[in-house]
Amino acid sequence: MDGQNVEIDWDAARQANRENWDDRVPLHEAAYGLEAYDDPSHISDVVIDDLPVLDRFLPDGSIQGLDLCHLQCHIGTDTISLARSGAVVTGVDFSAPALQTAAALAERSRASATWVESDVLDARAVVDGDFDVVYTSIGTICWLADLDRWAEQIFGLLRPGGTFYIRDAHPAMLALDEDAPTLTARYPYFGDGRAQQWNDDSTYVGNGTVAHARTYEWPHPLSEIIGSLLRAGLRLIHFDEGRTLPWQFSSRMVEVPRGYAWPQAERDLIPCTYTIVARKD
Ligand SMILES: C[S@@+](CC[C@H](N)C(=O)[O-])C[C@H]1O[C@@H](n2cnc3c(N)ncnc32)[C@H](O)[C@@H]1O
Repeated sequence: MDGQNVEIDWDAARQANRENWDDRVPLHEAAYGLEAYDDPSHISDVVIDDLPVLDRFLPDGSIQGLDLCHLQCHIGTDTISLARSGAVVTGVDFSAPALQTAAALAERSRASATWVESDVLDARAVVDGDFDVVYTSIGTICWLADLDRWAEQIFGLLRPGGTFYIRDAHPAMLALDEDAPTLTARYPYFGDGRAQQWNDDSTYVGNGTVAHARTYEWPHPLSEIIGSLLRAGLRLIHFDEGRTLPWQFSSRMVEVPRGYAWPQAERDLIPCTYTIVARKD
């Protein structure tokens, strides 16, 4: 059954997830609209939404000239957008094909970037240097079993005074039944360490299918997300919730500028995203 809670060891789950993400790369190359990046002023929708929020919490109000580490950078569209916005960027992902596509896109876009292949939970040991900003956005920590270890990587990657930014799917929304005709809770909001097992050969953009359909995700309540960052030593400086999402969680969601939202009558009933900005003092 999809979404069933299972006991699985991190290495086995990570391998299944990596094979699935590797398979998605050619599908996303076709569906992400990469040709738009031939226009040197093109910025991804995700970064258009994220940057004005992040900028408010940066010492000079801009990422211009700052060293920025983008965790779970996928095929680099957001990383390149951050480079175009002035940051010196390093993209980290565990999918070698994703990073190859990212590097090719950067070359074609004349954007400068460093790409590092690593499990995000090992990032501090693998990535060179320290950063002013660690950034991760949309479709990230659901793939990670251990948020304390995740937050420790972020703390270790940041310089003193550095800033962490995340925007991602709200865990309250992820607990809903994506197929139900009304907003109906179906999956656990609180995790118990077990993974949710999925068998889905589709992906969130385009029409192709993947060979490796089995994936594992972990539910993380807000208390666990914020708690992990605080326990690692970061200070929370901003928290927000949003009504729109860049991908279509449910077929009942309607298109809105730069994404999707529940039908108007339901839009105030449940958040779609959360945003956290935290500082390393
Ligand atoms: C939804 S995508 C990132 C989304 C990004 N906003 C985008 O659309 O380009 C999730 C990324 O996380 C990566 N990923 C998943 N688990 C990971 C792990 N344990 N370590 C590093 N990367 C991981 C996948 O390879 C994939 O590129």
